[in-house]
Amino acid sequence: MEIYAVRIYDLSEERLTELCSLINLEKKNKIERFVNKKDKIRAIIGETLIRMIVIENLKLSNKYISFDKNQYGKPYLKDYPNINFNISHSGDYVLCAVDDSPIGVDVEEVKDIKYEEIAKSFFTTKESEYIISQDLKIQLDKFYEIWTLKESYIKCCGQGLSIPLKSFYLDLDQRENIKVVSNDKYTEHTFKVFNIELGYKVAVCSLNKEISNNIVRLDQNYLINKFTELCLK
Ligand SMILES: CC(C)(COP(=O)(O)OP(=O)(O)OC[C@H]1O[C@@H](n2cnc3c(N)ncnc32)[C@H](O)[C@@H]1OP(=O)(O)O)[C@@H](O)C(=O)NCCC(=O)NCCS
Repeated sequence: MEIYAVRIYDLSEERLTELCSLINLEKKNKIERFVNKKDKIRAIIGETLIRMIVIENLKLSNKYISFDKNQYGKPYLKDYPNINFNISHSGDYVLCAVDDSPIGVDVEEVKDIKYEEIAKSFFTTKESEYIISQDLKIQLDKFYEIWTLKESYIKCCGQGLSIPLKSFYLDLDQRENIKVVSNDKYTEHTFKVFNIELGYKVAVCSLNKEISNNIVRLDQNYLINKFTELCLK
């Protein structure tokens, strides 16, 4: 398993156009439709990241990389069922986790929100109670921890919000052994929370027993240069 993180910064229109010319038409059109430049950057960096990983690991030429989506929109690499990946973006971060089993990753920028109300609406009673039972100073942090963990689980399963967030709960009592309970049973999934930077929360969910302890950080320019270089080979 590898987990990659890129901290994004501005990208020139020329660079953006160049990168968009190296991806498939559907994704290119989607990115071009975004009004917000940061949405464009997050999406193209996610795409560049997974393409670079695939080229390097499978020695596959960029033009032969083909993605498809399951019925809930989870992208996967066509013809390579043993490569599982998942992308997440929020604020200034883009993350991509790659593994030989289903994987889900979620990054969230921590914002000063009314977490109590949101938790009541979207989380189970146990999870909401867990948050408000914590010291006031860390309640927002705990809220985001549960949010990213729940999202990482949904994203690992690949079924999006067709799995209602209230239909399963996180057993957070054993700090190092977070588990999901669904239909009164523990599932096989394993979890890890990362504090990549103050103001961000990351969670990874996997069907493998072990989750990597490391996040590989790549500089945006390094990634773009490496990817365009690999495309020329
Ligand atoms: C789409 C969803 C899977 C994740 O959305 P998100 O957390 O807003 O976005 P993220 O940045 O983490 O993930 C987006 C990426 O996940 C991937 N993705 C899309 N559908 C997916 C699915 N069904 N399963 C797993 N991954 C999926 C894509 O790669 C997408 O990136 P791309 O569009 O650039 O290719 C879905 O769970 C969702 O809509 N969540 C929002 C739920 C919410 O509002 N929760 C509040 C509770 S407090």
